[in-house]
Amino acid sequence: MNKFEQLASKTNEALLGGGEKRIADQHKKGKLTARERIHFFMDEGSFEEIGMFVQHRCKDFDMESQQYLGDGVVTGYGTVNGRLVYVFSQDFTVFGGSLSETHAEKICKIMDLAMKNGAPVIGLNDSGGARIQEGVVSLGGYADIFYKNTQASGVIPQLSAIMGPCAGGAVYSPAITDFILMVENTSYMFVTGPNVVKTVTHEDVTSEDLGGAHTHASKSGVTHFACANELECIDHIKRLLSYMPQNCEENTPAQPYTSGNEKREALNNIVPDNANQPYDMREVIELIADENSFLEVHKEWADNIVVGFARIAGRSIGIIANQPAVLAGVLDINSSRKGARFVRFCDCFNIPLLTLVDVPGFLPGTDQEWHGIITNGAKLLYALSEATVPKITVITRKAYGGAYDVMNSKHIGADMNYAWPQAEIAVMGAKGAAEIIFKKEITEATDKEAKLKEKTDEYTDKFANPYLAAARGFVDEVILPEQTREKLIKAYKMLENKVANMPKKKHGNIPL
Ligand code: HXC
Repeated sequence: MNKFEQLASKTNEALLGGGEKRIADQHKKGKLTARERIHFFMDEGSFEEIGMFVQHRCKDFDMESQQYLGDGVVTGYGTVNGRLVYVFSQDFTVFGGSLSETHAEKICKIMDLAMKNGAPVIGLNDSGGARIQEGVVSLGGYADIFYKNTQASGVIPQLSAIMGPCAGGAVYSPAITDFILMVENTSYMFVTGPNVVKTVTHEDVTSEDLGGAHTHASKSGVTHFACANELECIDHIKRLLSYMPQNCEENTPAQPYTSGNEKREALNNIVPDNANQPYDMREVIELIADENSFLEVHKEWADNIVVGFARIAGRSIGIIANQPAVLAGVLDINSSRKGARFVRFCDCFNIPLLTLVDVPGFLPGTDQEWHGIITNGAKLLYALSEATVPKITVITRKAYGGAYDVMNSKHIGADMNYAWPQAEIAVMGAKGAAEIIFKKEITEATDKEAKLKEKTDEYTDKFANPYLAAARGFVDEVILPEQTREKLIKAYKMLENKVANMPKKKHGNIPL
């Protein structure tokens, strides 16, 4: 074999990973291989592999005789829709994609390159966790990755797709990254698997129920997206990337947009006359944003708040919106956490924010108080107060109590605050307010119900409108719903060069 042939032979060996049988097993499970995933993810012909011939250094347990070129992870760079990205894709056919010292080094190497060159890192995870034969060096490898994830946080976008098992401490690298995507039925994430759970808590639970895509998308909120299959997952990553800049120094490239008639009459008919009737805030979003541009994040979790990316006149924005169709849009622990995390991502990466407000307040009750609604609600308040990107608020209906302050009010740094004519900006709902401040009159009245109604109407007339806030300048303009989109297009353009410096500090202390 001449030297060129030797290179070709080694390349072919590496391309086969753990061998044909294991590749067939992977396919039988309904999973793609590490290389197939990269093939579908990257622009055709753009992928450049780094470290194809890396081998592990373990000498225990007869490992010297078991060498697979690349050591269970394919790493490199390429382009997605023409933009540079770095990728690592774990190869389950090699020791179950388990993480060895060298496997970790390969991941760290591309993370370093991504940081130096300012481009996102995408992890396609499919791994049995720490390489059991290697012991502590494997644990060290994980910690090296966690550390780099943390250093890279807020500098470059980091996305984690879970496409197979992800257990033990291995879940903590994805958890530090910005977005997690899981594939239904073939991926799971947990700190300890069903066997340990059975031993410790005597619960019988399947891997799917404990940490499958549906569980994490709807119960824990650990994953932001649950995808029906791997190709859908890959498409989702690509779409997600289109809303983000390459790094914190850049803005997201705008998509071509030709301006036209921006009036959206249909917005006038969404909010019902009866303030207690629900409506779907997604309808408002769809009409305000560019057509089909809304990508909802955390769709199945804490759905009393809606968050996601969209475009307005071709420019990427992040939306945080109360959802009156679920629990009347009340703020609770999970919706506050969900909103706060999303706001911080957008602020890290220069994505302007839009807050749509229809909120009756914070959810009362022992469950919420005992689980820390105070600390958790403060996360959203802190995140919105701290954000320096252009911030615009539209109050569509209720903005009551502390939730008025929290939902990007003028007082916490919103740049432009609009309200629709139906807006009610008050300390609380009119009936509740009347019951408290007119308690004596109502109790003493012969017709208590009539008195309550009279006082409720009185309070409604006085406070359930946007004009007192507008008189103070807390609301910049009361607008017709149909004008919202054109107002936003102009206001975001006006705020394009916003500079807002934070006081000098090491970092703030968000109430975690
Ligand atoms: C080395 C591993 C491995 C591991 C799997 N393999 N996990 N090799 N280290 N962690 C190998 C298997 O020996 C097998 O090799 C091949 O990968 C496929 O594994 P199977 O068990 O045949 O596949 P499957 O039935 O699909 O089960 C997949 C699995 C299971 C659920 C992941 O393999 C498993 O439970 N693995 C151990 C998981 C674990 O406990 N990891 C450590 C977690 S603690 P052959 O040669 O037969 O193909 C941890 C700490 C991290 O990760 C701490 C960070 C702080």
